[in-house]
Amino acid sequence: MSRFAEIRRDRHRIRDILAADEGREKVTVRGWTRTVRRGKEVTFVALNDGSCLGSLQVVLEPDLQDYEAVVRCGTGACLEVEGALVASPAAGQRWELYARQVRLLGVSDADYPLQKKRHSFEYLRSMTHLRPRANVFGAVFRVRSALSFAIHDFFRQRGFLHVHTPIITTNDCEGAGEMFRVTTLDAANPPLLEGAIDWRRDFFGSRTGLTVSGQLQGELFSGAFADIYSFGPTFRAENSNTSRHAAEFWMIEPEMAFADLAEDCALAEDFLRTLVTFALQECGEDLAFFNERIEPGLLGKLEALARAEFQVMTYSEAIHRLERAGRSFEFPVAWGADLQSEHERYLTEEVVGGPLFVTDYPSGIKAFYMRQNDDGKTVAAMDLLVPRVGEIIGGSQREERLDVLQQKMTRCGIDPQSLCWYLDSRRWGSCPHAGFGLGFERLLMYLTGMENIRDVIPFPRTPGQARF
Ligand code: 4AD
Ligand code: MG
Repeated sequence: MSRFAEIRRDRHRIRDILAADEGREKVTVRGWTRTVRRGKEVTFVALNDGSCLGSLQVVLEPDLQDYEAVVRCGTGACLEVEGALVASPAAGQRWELYARQVRLLGVSDADYPLQKKRHSFEYLRSMTHLRPRANVFGAVFRVRSALSFAIHDFFRQRGFLHVHTPIITTNDCEGAGEMFRVTTLDAANPPLLEGAIDWRRDFFGSRTGLTVSGQLQGELFSGAFADIYSFGPTFRAENSNTSRHAAEFWMIEPEMAFADLAEDCALAEDFLRTLVTFALQECGEDLAFFNERIEPGLLGKLEALARAEFQVMTYSEAIHRLERAGRSFEFPVAWGADLQSEHERYLTEEVVGGPLFVTDYPSGIKAFYMRQNDDGKTVAAMDLLVPRVGEIIGGSQREERLDVLQQKMTRCGIDPQSLCWYLDSRRWGSCPHAGFGLGFERLLMYLTGMENIRDVIPFPRTPGQARF
């Protein structure tokens, strides 16, 4: 046994204890009190250690040493309890812990902000530092952790290489001008050259920012390892205060050499279905909680997705459907305009009633790297739309032809010299390749039914908000 295992031998997680087959003479747990109810003869404490949604009922008799102090603290205190695990006479729970010893490790008092059983999400956002101790956030962050593991496992099983793409970069991959600047220059007194800031004198000798996507570097790795993926933090200075956008979020970006758009869609479908199936199998208790409290019908929706054939529709067909929707949208529908969230939701929720790939968008509304289709007007792009969330994945086949790519960059106003290293991948050993990006928080919103992206990321960063 390792030294660590030995130290931990007598420490139990509440999740394992609640699942015990039989009572136990000696059990030690540590956790935080969720409720403290003083009865006539004994006090009942609901103790939670984050290992599962359920709390363990602890029974305290008044002659225990820290008894008075624990009762005085109430909710939010930290305890260590040693005692016997016995069948509980109370309804709704199998076990309770009859304490022989209780130690108050950390006090609490009536000012502890999470006193009520239910607080609004808005209130809990103002308590970002404490909200992991609320039931709903316990469930969210357990699902988040489990899914993170499942994602790495999905790619490992399929032979994809995991690559860490850089966080600081000079390129704005998506070309949307949403990069956060990274600089060590003195903002009040920057070095100037002919009236403009002289970025050559900045830390990296050029203008740099936080990555908006690891794709371009991911493509370079796919040109050596064929199948790769990255899973990292992504930053966008998008000043849109919506429930689906964060300034810092996590994106999973696979890239496959020797693949076209159809193969890209097939991977995305396999990926999403596998993750949903994993969540249903491994996060059952938490999903049941979301099903009951957050999104009625959630479990049915996820089970249906795990079985569903994903529908595919071209952008042109989607526009046609929207024009014939027989309803007015806030944003106009016209070939050449980007789909807005209301359009995406109409298509996935009302036209197909499930996941939908929209493909072959007009080249004018998509990034420079997407492969030009033979019609000269559209690119081999795909977005995967799902009910409630809208776009969850964006991807494409990449333009692998050097001359076409160079022309495209010039048309988009990108200096080919600034991306000469990217163009080199088309100069030597270029091949058809494709990939996509899944927004991890969008996936979690879909899996949990949580409606605001701020509530599925531990410490949200949005316009005006980077506290905690
Ligand atoms: O569609 P996007 O912008 O695609 C890319 O960045 C490509 N370079 C990906 C690739 O092909 N490798 O972003 C991909 C996904 C979106 O579908 C969405 O789920 C998520 O990232 N996303 C955001 N999530 C939260 N907050 C934001 N501000 C997001 N912007 C995009
Ligand atoms: Mg997109």
